[in-house]
Amino acid sequence: MTAYDGVGVVVVNGPNLGRLGVREPDVYGHQDLQALTLECRAWGEALGLKVEVRQSDDEGEVIGWMHRAVDERTPVVINPAAFTHYSYGLADAAAQVGDAGLPLMEVHISNPASREAFRRLSVISPVATGTITGMGFYGYKLALEAIAHILKEKEGMD
Ligand code: DQA
Repeated sequence: MTAYDGVGVVVVNGPNLGRLGVREPDVYGHQDLQALTLECRAWGEALGLKVEVRQSDDEGEVIGWMHRAVDERTPVVINPAAFTHYSYGLADAAAQVGDAGLPLMEVHISNPASREAFRRLSVISPVATGTITGMGFYGYKLALEAIAHILKEKEGMD
């Protein structure tokens, strides 16, 4: 039992990630969002983190979830999907998470750097605590572990 035991972490997935399993399985794998949700919850539980997984195709809704994370002091794992490459609105909202002293881990299932040129720019990376790419669903596990590590370090400083 740690002081952060049971802390909520929100795992936010951007557009088209509701199509996991049917969308380009060679790139994103054969498992769907429901499988990802169950895995994230189990990984979180093992780390003492209460994980909530969300997905939206709507930029405003994803931005709203960043605001809520700030107001409720909730660490964030985000796969911004295509918003990664052009959404300054989401970048500004994600920056507020970091400014509030909360970890924000950026995850990509594929390795965008190895794909089309437009995927090489992330407007989210500059405001993320860290970025994990190319590890499939396992990247979310690594991101949750990073958050647990950061919270534990902070706890040591209190
Ligand atoms: C993605 C990569 C993005 O370029 C793409 O638009 C996605 C998914 C990934 O998880 O690899 O929708 O974020």
